[in-house]
Amino acid sequence: MVLYGLIGFPLGHSNSADVFNEKFRQEGKHNHEYRLFPINDLKGFHALIESQPELCGLNVTIPYKIKIIEFLDELDETAQSIGAVNTIKIFRDGKTYHTRGYNTDAGGFLQSLPHPAPFSKALILGTGGAARAVAHALRSVHVNYRFVSRYNKTENTIPYGELTPQTMDDYKCIINATPVGMYPDINAFPPIPYEYLTPGHFLIDLIYNPPQTRFLKQGLAKKCKVMNGTKMLIHQAKLAYSLFQEPEG
Ligand SMILES: NC(=O)c1ccc[n+]([C@@H]2O[C@H](COP(=O)([O-])OP(=O)(O)OC[C@H]3O[C@@H](n4cnc5c(N)ncnc54)[C@H](OP(=O)(O)O)[C@@H]3O)[C@@H](O)[C@H]2O)c1
Repeated sequence: MVLYGLIGFPLGHSNSADVFNEKFRQEGKHNHEYRLFPINDLKGFHALIESQPELCGLNVTIPYKIKIIEFLDELDETAQSIGAVNTIKIFRDGKTYHTRGYNTDAGGFLQSLPHPAPFSKALILGTGGAARAVAHALRSVHVNYRFVSRYNKTENTIPYGELTPQTMDDYKCIINATPVGMYPDINAFPPIPYEYLTPGHFLIDLIYNPPQTRFLKQGLAKKCKVMNGTKMLIHQAKLAYSLFQEPEG
């Protein structure tokens, strides 16, 4: 048995096990399995690896993509530069093991975008692991961005309450990288001034469950272009799958 899995909390929203197990089935890898491991404290991370000796790779989701770094032995260059990890390889040698963190969210997000990107400035809602990966992807295609946060964190962060009509007009792409609106809390939506949206805006939600969040619905009502997180989910999972299948290097 070769075991992979997902850590995060809660995991009720996640499709990852279906995506990976279907891929293993298609490729005839009948001894491969992907499971959900909801852990409510990262202090349980090493205990999980020790209790599952067949576990050789993990994905990481909300709320641990940044916090997990201090529990890992090393990071690849991309994860290091983003400051967030969504994929971990576990290299075992008898009873000992070491862990290396990667980030496939940035590549997955980039692959989900139309090329060339139909906007030159974007607002990223949230400042967590996914927001950092989106920012990295946008830098690589020379799109200017600012984070929108509940807090006044850095020079490049705008608090929600300070989103003016001018800012909404300047930034034609708005990317929801918060969990607000995700199953089961599907009636929630990020507090941006939706009244200033126009048909020239492009709204992207990283959430894929539900497929149409209230954030996206309010964009559709203003005739914006919209995209949910399904494409990103598939692309980041493909990149993680390739990493899992690569021999140790
Ligand atoms: N489609 C995909 O493949 C894909 C990949 C990665 C992530 N995602 C989705 O992206 C979302 C974020 O994931 P993540 O891993 O980045 O989570 P995270 O590290 O926990 O960060 C989420 C950020 O959202 C903001 N936030 C949290 N609770 C909020 C609230 N109640 N109201 C307003 N803002 C809030 C916070 O920013 P501030 O504190 O600055 O406000 C926080 O830093 C999740 O829904 C996740 O499922 C999807």
